[in-house]
Amino acid sequence: MASTTAINKIEKLRKQLNYHNYRYYVLAQPDTSDGQYDELMQELHQLEADNPELVTADSPTQRVGAEPLPGFSQVEHPVAMISLANAFNDEEFMAWHKRVSNLLERNQFDMVCELKYDGLAVALTYQDGFFVQGATRGNGLVGEDVTQNLRTIKSIPLRLLSADVPSRLEVRGEVYFPKSEFLKFNDERVARGEEPYANPRNTAAGSLRQLDPRMTASRPLDIFIYSLGYVEGDGLPETHAKSLDYFKDLGFKVSEGFRVVQTPEEAIDFYKSWVESVKDIDVAADGVVIKIDDLEFQRHLGIVGREPRWAIAYKFPAVQSVTQLLDIAVNVGRTGSINPYAILEPVVIGGATVQRATLHNEEYIRAKDLRVGDWIVVERAGEVIPQIVSVITSSRTGNEKPFEFPTECPSCGEAVVNPEDEAAAFCVNASCPEQLVRLLEHFVSRNSMDIDGMGGKWGGILIQHGLIKDVADLYFLKKESLLEIERMGEKSADNMIAAIAASKSRPLARLLASLGIRHVGSEVGELLARYFTSMDNLMAATEKSLTAIPNIGPRIAESLMGYFANQSNRAVIEKLREAGVRVKDEPREGPAEQPLIGLRFVVTGRLEQFSRSQIEGRIKELGGAVSGSVSKRTNYLVAGADAGSKLADAQSLDVKVLSEEEFLALADSTQAI
Ligand code: IVH
Repeated sequence: MASTTAINKIEKLRKQLNYHNYRYYVLAQPDTSDGQYDELMQELHQLEADNPELVTADSPTQRVGAEPLPGFSQVEHPVAMISLANAFNDEEFMAWHKRVSNLLERNQFDMVCELKYDGLAVALTYQDGFFVQGATRGNGLVGEDVTQNLRTIKSIPLRLLSADVPSRLEVRGEVYFPKSEFLKFNDERVARGEEPYANPRNTAAGSLRQLDPRMTASRPLDIFIYSLGYVEGDGLPETHAKSLDYFKDLGFKVSEGFRVVQTPEEAIDFYKSWVESVKDIDVAADGVVIKIDDLEFQRHLGIVGREPRWAIAYKFPAVQSVTQLLDIAVNVGRTGSINPYAILEPVVIGGATVQRATLHNEEYIRAKDLRVGDWIVVERAGEVIPQIVSVITSSRTGNEKPFEFPTECPSCGEAVVNPEDEAAAFCVNASCPEQLVRLLEHFVSRNSMDIDGMGGKWGGILIQHGLIKDVADLYFLKKESLLEIERMGEKSADNMIAAIAASKSRPLARLLASLGIRHVGSEVGELLARYFTSMDNLMAATEKSLTAIPNIGPRIAESLMGYFANQSNRAVIEKLREAGVRVKDEPREGPAEQPLIGLRFVVTGRLEQFSRSQIEGRIKELGGAVSGSVSKRTNYLVAGADAGSKLADAQSLDVKVLSEEEFLALADSTQAI
């Protein structure tokens, strides 16, 4: 039994943490230090660990509590999620205003102007003030239940701030990936030899549809709330502007820059004030939404088809420009990927000068038939990364030169390799200098082994001096050899050696993500460390045991197998181990207690010892995942009597079928992976 003191203390801590969270993530005005926040959180964790019966879903400790899902279930929207009609110029906007005036039979009415964010729409439902369900828009009528993932977004309150709230309240908003974070995220992907995402919107959508909420939690998603959905209760605002204030009072983040206007000219002024400056804010926006303020007028105007008459999106002009492709150059990434990029005649697009554009790989250049000297259309997609949209072939003179993709690495001269099923080409020379410089930069960086003071030019200098031939050499650096480097003083050398030594105890997940294994970044590193707990276990893994882990597919498995099959990579690992770098974690949720971790099950037919929900509960308890239908990714079908079409599916897909007894034997074994 928990004491009253514990109950009160827990409630107080939750209130404090929710308040600090709101100040930090919603208002961006923290009034406490990170350290103090962490202390409160730590205290709450401890109290909840001592009193597990007091843990509630809205506790700030529970944002990322859920296990991976086998799939998303569907959610029917009580009120359809509609879209917006567009205007592309002042005339179209004025025509909308005139139509509305006619329908309302008045010339004077307030409108609210706000930015149109470029993310994805979601609906958040609160029951008695608690966040109970979050869904994507889907087709407008039925979306997907992404509650667990939305819970990880810190600016979504798990409990509404105000005490007096409708019994059921649904608000709608746009989830987005901040632009600055998107750039970092894509840099990371490219450095790992992966395709970059096209824009922040797709990345936000992909992040929200991760089956493992821990993955979503690692992505810096955010949300703006812009409208009310379904509500049960009264005392609600009567205008849209008041709704926005109301959302703010409930603890949501709303667009700060909205403006109430009376005339269409003022709305156009608002639009014009953003055309140029929208690139300076950290959220991608593709226009301005103008809404009739009075909600009664909105109801009167209604909806035609899937678009409301009471609002319009006035879109910003596309950010495209024409320029010349001066040359195509290549660099070498940390995984050895040979990355071509375009050198452009500098051109100003939407206020920023563009002189480089990524070309991804050889196939991309070929598909667009890009030739050096071509005139091309360049676009800043999602206002961030310049992309080549098309070639203006009518401007060709005949002097344009097709690009010959290098057959030798531009850094070390070794032959370039084109793996089957991969768009990228690679330099596979483990001691290629440029690759090593990039890998070292990555290895020491803050999100990797976090070696203080080793960033910048140091990697290149150590390589040039022959002190480093692979990342493990870092751990064998001697002070005397460092002192031979020009401008390296006693103190700097001591600091460098101390910082390197301090990195030896980083968790296994970080080490894995630091090695520059293709497709293995911090998320995959985290998964691998969680499931295998040691480098030795991971090195002994088979393709089957790797792909049994949710979110690890054949591509990652193949990359890992290939990495560990390479002698020089194994030598690096041995050297790291010898240097005392941590290659093993304490088991967190040990495979011994969760023998089914990473395995997917389908259950069918009548069982003897279990009811359907009992066996499903047992599978989940033991770390497995349960889904409703058999697919290629199913590991086992547990079949009882009178099994029907699922048994046939399993047989045709070569999925192993278990009887109830066989399932029990498997559940008992500790060697399931
Ligand atoms: S109001 C019917 N306001 O744009 C009104 N939508 O093209 C519903 N969007 O599905 C939307 N920013 O995902 C509204 N300030 C804003 C918005 C916004 C972005 C999105 C939303 C909607 C789409 C319509």
